[in-house]
Amino acid sequence: MKKLFIKTYGCQMNAYDSARMADLLAPLGFAGTDTAEDADMVILNTCHIREKATEKVYSELGCIRGLKEDKSRNGGRMLVAVAGCTAQAEGEEILARAPVVDMVVGPQSYHRLPEMIARIARGAGTRIEADFPALEKFDALPEAGSDTGVSAFLTVQEGCDKFCTFCVVPYTRGPEHSRPPEKIIAEARSLSARGAREIVLLGQNVNAYRGQDNAGKTWSLARLIEAIAGIEDVLRIRYTTSHPRDMGDDLIEAHGAIEKLMPFLHLPVQSGSDSVLAAMNRQHTADEYRALIARIRARRPDIAFSSDFIVGFPGESDADFEATLQLVRDIEYAQCFSFKYSSRPGTPAAAARKQIAESVKSARLDVLQKLLLSQQDAANKAAIGKTMDVLFEKPGRGAGQIVGRTPHLNPVHVEAPARLIGSIHAVHIEALTANSVKGRLL
Ligand code: SAH
Ligand code: SF4
Ligand code: F3S
Repeated sequence: MKKLFIKTYGCQMNAYDSARMADLLAPLGFAGTDTAEDADMVILNTCHIREKATEKVYSELGCIRGLKEDKSRNGGRMLVAVAGCTAQAEGEEILARAPVVDMVVGPQSYHRLPEMIARIARGAGTRIEADFPALEKFDALPEAGSDTGVSAFLTVQEGCDKFCTFCVVPYTRGPEHSRPPEKIIAEARSLSARGAREIVLLGQNVNAYRGQDNAGKTWSLARLIEAIAGIEDVLRIRYTTSHPRDMGDDLIEAHGAIEKLMPFLHLPVQSGSDSVLAAMNRQHTADEYRALIARIRARRPDIAFSSDFIVGFPGESDADFEATLQLVRDIEYAQCFSFKYSSRPGTPAAAARKQIAESVKSARLDVLQKLLLSQQDAANKAAIGKTMDVLFEKPGRGAGQIVGRTPHLNPVHVEAPARLIGSIHAVHIEALTANSVKGRLL
C-alpha cells in the first residue's frame, strides 16, 4: 500500500471533499496516514477565504519540501498536490512560487486526480485542473467509502451566486449547483447503513438547495430534510451554511414539524448596520434579519442561533459597529464566529477607498468577541441542571468517558460505557468545563 496524507483547511465542505478524494484514490492503492512524513502522496486541501488561510498553505509547503527531499534522498518519491479554493484561485502562482508542488486541482475537478497522477508519472501534460467542468464532480466520484463517524457530512449543494462584495467563494467554487435528491437520499441511506446516526447537510448556500428529481420536479431543502428524516436509522439532521435570503417558509415550518431536525441554526448576518449590509451586497436589512429570527423562534422556541460577523468592512463607522453590537444584544446567540475584514484580490470590496485601519479592526473585534463570549457563557450556564438528549459520538479523553452532543451542539462528557456510542440518551447536565459540559447518564 502507498501512504496518502491529506491536510484539510477551511470549511466542512473541504472536509467532505477530502474524504471523497481518499475514497477515489483507495483503488489506486493509497491508504490514509496521519503524518506527511514518508507519505507517497500529500494533498493540501486549502482555503482562500482570508489572507491568513492562504498564507498557511505556503508555510506548510515549506515544511513539505524538506520531507519530500528526505524521501527522494532515500530513493522514494513524494507526490504533492494542492487542492481546494486556493488551488482554484492561485493555481499558476502556486506552481511558480512552490516548485515542491507537482499538481494543482480545483474543487470541481477532484475526479481528475487519477488521470493527473498518471500524467505526472509519465512526466507529460498539464499540472493544473481548475475548470468548472460541465460534468458534475459528484457523478464522477465514487460513493462515500467505509469510514463514517456517528455524525457524517453530506454535501447537497455547492457554489454561490450571491457575490457578497468581500467574498471569494463565488470565484473559487463556481455557480450554485444542487445535487439530485435521489442521489442524496441514497448517500444518506448508505451513510446510515455504515453507522452514521446524524447527517449534516452541507452547502455554501445550503438553504438555496433546488434539486431536480428524475421526474423533473424541483425539491426544496425542507422537502429533502423530510425525506431523509424518513430513514429510520438517521436520528438527527442538521444543515449548514444558510443565507438569510433563502430561509423559505417551508424550511421555517420544518423546524416546528420535523422532530429529527435539530434546534440549532447557523444563520450568518455579518453586520448589524444597514449601510454596511448594503455595501456587502447581503440583500437584506438588519430588521429583516430580526424579523426572520423571530419567525423561526415562533415555530421552534428552543432553537439556538449562531452567526458569522465581519468587523472593519470598508467604510464601517463607529455607529455601524455599534449597530452590530445592538443586533447581537437583540438576538442573543449561542455561539458565533467573528473575523477582521480581510481584503481579497479580485473582490469588489478590495477596491473600496475607505479601508479600515488594522488597529481599529482589532479593537472592534475584541469588543465584539467579549460580547459574543458572554452570550455563549450564558447559554451554556442555562443548560446546567437540565436534562438533555445527547447523541454519543466517540470516546472521551478521560478513561471511561464518552463524548456526545446536545441538540444545541454543545459537547458533553459523560462517564458511560463505549457501547452507547451511536445512540441517544438522556443526560443530566452538571458542570461547565473550559470548552464543554459535564453530564451524568440518567
Ligand atoms: N456562505 C456562507 C459563508 C461562507 S464563508 C455565508 O454566506 O454566510 C464563512 C465566513 O467567512 C463568512 O460568513 C464571513 O463571515 C467570513 N468571510 C468571508 N470572506 C471574508 C473576508 N474577506 N474577510 C473576513 N471574513 C470573511
Ligand atoms: Fe460568500 Fe456571500 Fe456566497 Fe456566503 S453568500 S459564500 S459570504 S458570497
Ligand atoms: Fe474556504 Fe473555500 Fe470553504 S474559501 S471556507 S474552503 S468554500
